[in-house]
Amino acid sequence: MDLIRQAYATKAREYVELFGSSDKVHADDLSLIEHYLSLRPGAVLDIGSGPGHLTEYLRTLNVDACGIDLVPQFIDHARNTYPDGRYELGSFRQLAVANGSVFGILAWYSLIHVPPEDLAGVLVELRRVTANGATLVIGFFDGDRLESFEHAVATAYYWPVDQLAAQLQDAGFIEIERLQRPGVNEPGRRPHAVLVARAT
Ligand SMILES: C[S@@+](CC[C@H](N)C(=O)[O-])C[C@H]1O[C@@H](n2cnc3c(N)ncnc32)[C@H](O)[C@@H]1O
Repeated sequence: MDLIRQAYATKAREYVELFGSSDKVHADDLSLIEHYLSLRPGAVLDIGSGPGHLTEYLRTLNVDACGIDLVPQFIDHARNTYPDGRYELGSFRQLAVANGSVFGILAWYSLIHVPPEDLAGVLVELRRVTANGATLVIGFFDGDRLESFEHAVATAYYWPVDQLAAQLQDAGFIEIERLQRPGVNEPGRRPHAVLVARAT
């Protein structure tokens, strides 16, 4: 965890410039996030919120959204850029949030660095804080096999969608939608997937 924090801290400014705006997020993804996370009342956590732009996107949709990230530079940036938003320094491995108090979670490319053997524990923590019926939206790198690769910031993992959906099910989340987009149109762009699941 310290390695991830340090890696993102070193590259925080560059990351903000490259990715820190919701107009850099595909329109289909924004629609899906809006559809699943804005239509019901209640608190939504944007875990691993990075620059905070998707927390802000949710806030502009009248969602009671809170961004949580491990990296102080990202939290400072988000608080300065979106002063009306809520951003907290913390880890999704151990959330300072009461059991069953959250109605939605966005994990947008934030679980990509979690070593596969640790993912079950993280998902149990997410299930702990979610109310029954809450919605979880995960964006990640799609892969034919579960394997690591050297991401620009730190080691990350490709997940086959079925395999991640099975892990979600083991933690008490049932898949309700998936979206997959091949990474063919831009050089260097990797296959993308989103899983939407409901806490059962
Ligand atoms: C690829 S970035 C995605 C950031 C943002 N969600 C976005 O879409 O641009 C991964 C983010 O996850 C955060 N992160 C990684 N491990 C974390 C943890 N254990 N708890 C909270 N945030 C974490 C990193 O600091 C980083 O901001």
